[in-house]
Order: sequence, then structure tokens, then C-alpha cells
Amino acid sequence: MPTNKPCVLWFTGLSGAGKTTLVRELSAALQERDVRCRALDGDDLRQGLNAGLGFSEADRMENMRRVAEVAKLFLDEGYIALAALISPLRSQRAAVRSLFKDGQFLEVFVDAPLQVCEERDPKGLYRQARARQITNFTGIDDLYEAPENPDLHLRTDRELPSTLVDTVLTYLEGKDIIPSI
Ligand code: ADX
Repeated sequence: MPTNKPCVLWFTGLSGAGKTTLVRELSAALQERDVRCRALDGDDLRQGLNAGLGFSEADRMENMRRVAEVAKLFLDEGYIALAALISPLRSQRAAVRSLFKDGQFLEVFVDAPLQVCEERDPKGLYRQARARQITNFTGIDDLYEAPENPDLHLRTDRELPSTLVDTVLTYLEGKDIIPSI
């Protein structure tokens, strides 16, 4: 097993921005290099661990806190955790960051304009939010605060996922988090 430094990459961005796709492809690329990593996807975890949590500010914070605590268990074992959650508010992301040791929390902004996310609408939720069939939908009737100074800023409307995965890998190599190949 090649050695890596444990850390969490915290992917934040609007629904439909491409967090899940990037985490899936990055996870595959890291495994290809025999780097231990674990994807923690908000949508998946809301089916089980976080079932019962909704989308109020408090519930989103609790959702994030639990995922951060799970991520920490993986870090304890030396893993790189890849968390993909909207994580809409700066204060919430700062609270999560404070749960980790210095340098172990890396904020990755998965950025695409709202209009693009809405056109993609992979789950049909933007349409429902516009029709007011669901409320508190991030970007429509609930706030998303873009990171001001993310560790990585990935524009999914401009670059292919494979290109962005390479960007992340190069960044991790540069920080000596994963070995260079
Ligand atoms: S977070 O805000 O608490 O970080 P999380 O990433 O776990 O959100 O879950 C977001 C996913 O839940 C979206 O991708 C979407 O599939 C679904 N969802 C359902 N209702 C909402 C809503 N009101 N706002 C945002 N996402 C919602």
C-alpha cells in the first residue's frame, strides 16, 4: 500500500453541480493508485445514517456534523475521506473544519452556475422546487454561500470530470498527501 496522509476533501456545491460524479471518479482514480479512500455522499447517507434529517439549517448542520464524525473515523485509519454534501453555509463549513486537525480539512468548491445545475436537473428536484412542490431547496428558496477561499475550485461547466479529477490528484501530489507517480 502506498502511504498517503489522511485528510478529508469536503466537496461543497449546489445540487446538480457534479459533486457525486467527481467523488465517484476521484475515488476510482485513487483506488487505481492503491490509495485508501472512502466516499461519503450526502444523498446516500441520507438514506440510512441521516434518515430523518430534513433541510432546515439545523438539520443540515447535524447532517454535516455526522458525516464529519464518520470521516474522522476513516482518517484515524489513515484514509482519505471524500465527502460530497451541499453544505450551504460558510458558518456550517467552518464548524465542520474545526472538527479536524489543521491541514486535514480541504474545502473543494464544485462550481457550476445555478442555471446550468437547473438545466441538468438530474433528479427533477429543481423543477419541483420551481413548482413549489418542495421548499427550502438550495439555490431556489434557500441560501447557498459560495466558498470565498476554497482549497480547490472546480468549474464543472467548463471542464470534463476527468480533467478535474486530474486537477485534484495533482493538487494532492503537490501537498504530499498522495505519492506522485
Ligand atoms: S446538505 O445541505 O445537508 O449538505 P445533502 O448534500 O446532504 O445536503 O443533500 C442534498 C441532496 O438532497 C440533494 O442533492 C437532493 O438530491 C436532495 N434534496 C432534497 N430536498 C432538498 C432541499 N430542500 N435542498 C437541497 N437538496 C435537497
